[in-house]
Amino acid sequence: AGGARGAASRAMAGDTSLSENYAFAGVFHVFDQHLDSAVRKVQFAHDERHLLACCSLDGSLSVCRLAPGPPAVLRRLRGHGAGVSDFAWSLSNDVLVSTSLDGTLRIWDPAEGRCIRRVQDPDGAELLCCAFQPLNNNLTVVGSARHMVRVLNISTGKAARGGSGRLPGRALALCFDAPGRVLWAGDDRGSVSSFLCDPGTGRLTKASRVLVQAGGSITSLSARAWASREAPDPSLLVNACPDRLLLFRSGGIWGHWGHLGPQPLRSCFCPLMSLPAGGVRGDACVHFFDVGRAARATVNTLQGHGAAVLAVAFNCDESLLASADAGGTVIVWRRQHA
Ligand SMILES: *[C@@H]1O[C@H](CO)[C@@H](O)[C@H](O)[C@H]1NC(C)=O
Ligand SMILES: *[C@@H]1O[C@H](CO)[C@@H](O)[C@H](O)[C@H]1NC(C)=O
Repeated sequence: AGGARGAASRAMAGDTSLSENYAFAGVFHVFDQHLDSAVRKVQFAHDERHLLACCSLDGSLSVCRLAPGPPAVLRRLRGHGAGVSDFAWSLSNDVLVSTSLDGTLRIWDPAEGRCIRRVQDPDGAELLCCAFQPLNNNLTVVGSARHMVRVLNISTGKAARGGSGRLPGRALALCFDAPGRVLWAGDDRGSVSSFLCDPGTGRLTKASRVLVQAGGSITSLSARAWASREAPDPSLLVNACPDRLLLFRSGGIWGHWGHLGPQPLRSCFCPLMSLPAGGVRGDACVHFFDVGRAARATVNTLQGHGAAVLAVAFNCDESLLASADAGGTVIVWRRQHA
């Protein structure tokens, strides 16, 4: 089945091989503003090819512009009193939210570099992950080290009524499905819990829980409405530390790839309908996986980092890929044109 799928993907992609299709060979720019502290996440703004943000264990975030003009750090968002664990862009890119080990969520104006609001966790717990409700960007969900997920109204900083849920472990990863109806939360006991979310009010209703990796940690989740043209079901890409990247489809495990490192890794889907791949492996490389194939799934590898790569992100048209490492370096790779 893998071969047939691969062949179909190749045909769809215009008869180029998968690895040619994923040839991000050239380094576009190297950012070092977070040097010596791990960068835990990088993410391009929505529908903006050249706007990138990074968060770091140095306690700050940075907003970077890649074009026009020479690549530059536009803003440093400073204020958190400890490492920044996660952040998210609002749909219109006018707001960033970030979570920190200092026990606060901060809401930022990324254009001005200004902190708009600071919200303390009611339990005083480290905050480890966050996500915008895709249908209602006035609501953000936050995950804590006290096993809680909470929906907050970002206009007020107040918890949404009925908008909290408890996990078996520390909440490390959150994501919504595209329609904003289902919230998945991963924890450090290796389970993924799902909740139904009312996009109008933020109310959460417990739905299901899957133990993905006993004794492991779920360090990232990303959802997509489809995995490929040949696989139209919704899919969830899951990094289960210490060992595996998994793809869930139709409620079951569709594929998994092993021998990843012990670090908190964040893989992601490629945003376009070309191929569902893109991953990190805990070494100093970026790996591209063909998640349509269980065996020999690595289609390309990028070398250039000097420390373990922790997170990757594509821009909206896949012309650029950003990767961030444990030593604080962020590399932006340019897609090679055939
Ligand atoms: C967020 O709230 C503001 C004012 O409270 C409102 O104008 C806006 O439409 C809301 N946005 C969404 C996505 O609901
Ligand atoms: C958030 O709070 C504002 C101000 O109280 C309110 O107008 C708005 O409806 C709330 N939004 C949601 C989604 O609850």
